[in-house]
Amino acid sequence: MTTFIKLDSNENPFGPSPSAIKAMQGVLSECSDYPDDDVSALRLKLAEHHGVQLEQILVAGGLTEFLGMLARTFLVPGLNAVTSQRSFIIYRMATEAAGAHLIEVPTRHNGFDVDGIAAAANRSTRIIFLANPNNPTGTLVTVKEVDHLLSLIPEPLLVLDEAYYEFAEHFANKRGVRYSRSLDYVREGRNVVVLRTFSKVHGLAGMRVGYGIASAELIARISRQRSVYCVSAPAQAGALAALEDSAHIRKTVENNTAQSERLFQAISEVGYAVTPTWGNFLYCDMGRDAGIFAERLRLKGILIRPLDRWGAPEAVRITVGTPEQNDALVRTLRKLKSS
Ligand SMILES: Cc1ncc(COP(=O)(O)O)c(C=O)c1O
Repeated sequence: MTTFIKLDSNENPFGPSPSAIKAMQGVLSECSDYPDDDVSALRLKLAEHHGVQLEQILVAGGLTEFLGMLARTFLVPGLNAVTSQRSFIIYRMATEAAGAHLIEVPTRHNGFDVDGIAAAANRSTRIIFLANPNNPTGTLVTVKEVDHLLSLIPEPLLVLDEAYYEFAEHFANKRGVRYSRSLDYVREGRNVVVLRTFSKVHGLAGMRVGYGIASAELIARISRQRSVYCVSAPAQAGALAALEDSAHIRKTVENNTAQSERLFQAISEVGYAVTPTWGNFLYCDMGRDAGIFAERLRLKGILIRPLDRWGAPEAVRITVGTPEQNDALVRTLRKLKSS
């Protein structure tokens, strides 16, 4: 069996937090019992961590599930949601599963065009999905731009999807800019839901845990769409431990910042157009059929994501790996280019 270098799904290349593994193993013998449906311990920890009330936190089986709950809460046939082209593919799936329509606004500099989004929203718009940083392009919407968007359209629910929060925050500190004031909006009582996940920096994508932070009223409304027992006991234990594993978080974000800069350089030198990233992945315009290119890499044992389904048939998304994985990637890219 080939062991692939997996750079296609923006997972943590170092795996789960070691303390999360220990915590998950510790609850396996109790798995004949149903999990705590209130997810009390984890919600309490998250409420403390973010300085909000317990009632303002809702934990689900990953953000993918949370986005489905949002769509089922606010959308029905005849209504719509607005987002950007080339953004997270689940926005479309969740919106359409609710029978509603997704308006996708053209990108600006490969990222969200907030004025375009405000202009596209109409009387039937109930949700605006904003991935910050955006997947797959890695771009950031600045604090100023989000403030501007909220001033233009305070009415529909603004979903601030911060799945890559820790990576963006680390870049922002290094680059001397302010990344996000999403939780301020919640505290100010704005019509905003902030989304975070344990799938990325914490390395728990396989456990399926993500959460939303909003006003207690919004959370109560959204939670009616939540499935009972949707967060398993190992997932709750793992997430709780991962949140406290600052060494694993630091190792992951420091590697990501250093390695993404190095990959940016190396891939640009090979001759492809790379967009500067705020996440744990790079958006690369290959200038040719990216599906064929990704297949050639797969045959060399490296998985990357071609973006034809995102409406970018000439682009790929490459997750930032460990230094060794990135060495292998760069070597293979150079070889393929010269062959
Ligand atoms: C922008 C964005 N939001 C949400 C998710 C989904 O996260 P989860 O694994 O919690 O479902 C992803 C995963 O790739 C993502 O890129």
